[in-house]
Amino acid sequence: MTTRRARARLQGKPAAARSPMFTSTARARILRVPRVLCISGPNLQLLGTREPDVYGRTTLAEIHARLEQRAEALGVELQARQSNHEGTLVDWIGESRASGIHGLILNPGAYTHTSIALLDALTAVALPCIEVHLSNPDAREPFRHQSHIARACVGRVAGFGADSYELALEGLVRILTRGRSHA
Ligand code: DQA
Repeated sequence: MTTRRARARLQGKPAAARSPMFTSTARARILRVPRVLCISGPNLQLLGTREPDVYGRTTLAEIHARLEQRAEALGVELQARQSNHEGTLVDWIGESRASGIHGLILNPGAYTHTSIALLDALTAVALPCIEVHLSNPDAREPFRHQSHIARACVGRVAGFGADSYELALEGLVRILTRGRSHA
């Protein structure tokens, strides 16, 4: 039986979600509104004026606004935050599972290349996380070629400027709603 509330939630959902052919588990997975936390690390509050040749001219506020629009279109709840402090980033990741977050988008800035604490936090919460970079670190200085967090992430989007965030959201939502196709 589909309740009125469930019917309301089904409006605008993929036809597959309305099909009686679906098991209740599959239906629940489709109906669950994914909650995503997007975290940006040090110096990303300076986007717009920081090395525009490398990072573009879009500000972090504009990236967050676009991401929110995309999240709404995808039927996802989104929170977006930035901090320059490693411990604060560790706190946010550590609290994420208990506060009902289903997946993470993380641009740790320079902490990508230095932080075992971020790796440990991601491993501890065991939520699907997409590593994001505006630039392509692999095409830059050798010290940017290593990512300590990569092994705790399901994927990485890098090199698309501000669009990297939206592309990461799309990939994460696919994982949250369909599961990993290549696990
Ligand atoms: C960055 C790449 C990092 O190497 C750098 O330290 C940053 C930004 C990016 O988004 O391209 O601060 O994460």
